Amino acid sequence: MMEEALKSLRKGEIVLVFDAANRERETDMILAAEHVTPEHIRILRNDAGGLICAPVSAENAEKLGIPFMTDILKVSSEKYPVLKRLSPHDIPYDEKSAFSITVNHRKTFTGITDNDRALTIKELALLCKDGQHEKFGDFFRSPGHVTLLRAADGHVLRRRGHTEMSIALMEMAGLTGVAVCCEMMDNRRGNSLSTEDARLYAKEHDLIFLNGSDLIKAYKEYKFEL
Ligand code: 5RP
Ligand code: CA
Ligand code: ZN
Ligand code: ZN
Repeated sequence: MMEEALKSLRKGEIVLVFDAANRERETDMILAAEHVTPEHIRILRNDAGGLICAPVSAENAEKLGIPFMTDILKVSSEKYPVLKRLSPHDIPYDEKSAFSITVNHRKTFTGITDNDRALTIKELALLCKDGQHEKFGDFFRSPGHVTLLRAADGHVLRRRGHTEMSIALMEMAGLTGVAVCCEMMDNRRGNSLSTEDARLYAKEHDLIFLNGSDLIKAYKEYKFEL
């Protein structure tokens, strides 16, 4: 199953990843940022419906110099005291948020269209792939319409979010450490899509469905073998 998932990702296909019953209990659509197209963004918008984000590996995030949003807020709270009061110390499903800054590529217009978001995400992946991290500010502006997520150091060995799981998949597939993820929502009940329905969607659309625990196990084996 894991090999199939990695093959799909290399081909630019979407895979579905459920995190865990004791975490968000969400299934995200995940794909490689270097392969993203406007068509993918349309599918994420219409069929997933959550927030379209771009997980960035800890290594790429470090080279780009992008901080966690929590660190930005902490520093800024000197000048804006309300930010201290907004501290996210009470997230019900995890200790730490992965949110970083939002960006748009400078060649986008509003930044929100399928074409614009695909451009922003793909160009970020290519910038990282080419090792041009120091040119980040030449080609991107912030704020923007793509939320960057910063993977924890050690990735899934440290934090078991979709952020780290996306990056673990990229690493195992030999793809650039930038991904795209979006939570699958339920269109009728106002909740996240149930695992059952997410599995059904995968079956109907011929997509691979992965369980977070299997993914993490495979990543540990992969790291051990290296
Ligand atoms: C951004 C989120 C999603 O849950 C996304 O899956 C990444 O977060 P995490 O790493 O916490 O799972 O919060 O929409
Ligand atoms: Ca989350
Ligand atoms: Zn998540
Ligand atoms: Zn979520």
